[in-house]
Amino acid sequence: MLARPNRAGLIAALDTHDPATAERWATALAPHVGVVKIGLELFVACGPATVARIARHRPVFLDLKFHDIPNTVAGAVRSACALRPAMLTIHAAGGPAMIATARAAAEDAAGPDRPAILAVTVLTSTDAATLAETGVAGGPAQQVLRLARLALDAGADGLVCAPPEVPLIRAAHGAQPLLVVPGVRPAGSARGDQSRVATPEEAVAAGADWLVIGRPITAATDPVAAAAAIAATLAA
Ligand code: C5P
Repeated sequence: MLARPNRAGLIAALDTHDPATAERWATALAPHVGVVKIGLELFVACGPATVARIARHRPVFLDLKFHDIPNTVAGAVRSACALRPAMLTIHAAGGPAMIATARAAAEDAAGPDRPAILAVTVLTSTDAATLAETGVAGGPAQQVLRLARLALDAGADGLVCAPPEVPLIRAAHGAQPLLVVPGVRPAGSARGDQSRVATPEEAVAAGADWLVIGRPITAATDPVAAAAAIAATLAA
């Protein structure tokens, strides 16, 4: 598994449907980021061949957020392991059997080189009202803590959570779980559709291991300068 960074590391989300753009970003951003993230937009458009090309520049976080019956997720994890990602995501809401089966499938397929299995708790774009609409009472913090316990007990290596939940998870589970945190916005950048946000400095102070940042880098006039500036704040 990819080593945990000494200080919080930066993950650039390569959210585009265009493989040439993604590879251009990966090449240019490589000196400033520890990992690059391939999500649904790029993977659905271009598939495994693009993962292999991008992985030549930086370790890949394959963020496909699997959520299906355990047998199907296990098969998807085995297929994903053939692409040798450093991290991959499943939804904690899939439940303990799905998570445990995903972990076992990764161990079986990739042994010690397996990707970190990260459980997505509550999406960073989801607020209390959205949760309530889906029948979940109590708000994001309570739901994140419930899903965090469930996922870690079932064998997830870490969690994807929004900045405000990082200190709550650290208080409940200590330093061990790998915490990967999207919803990060450098001061002055647009929130977009993210609702539970913090600056990079705040997310690091709260205990994040990796910050996932997309549009504040990729939509910047100069993405390399934007990534370098964020990376400098993490190294400070
Ligand atoms: O552009 P932005 O910085 O908002 O991108 C955040 C990235 O993190 C997106 O690729 C999104 O899919 C991903 N993500 C998220 N919330 C989660 C899990 C992943 O925003 N809970």
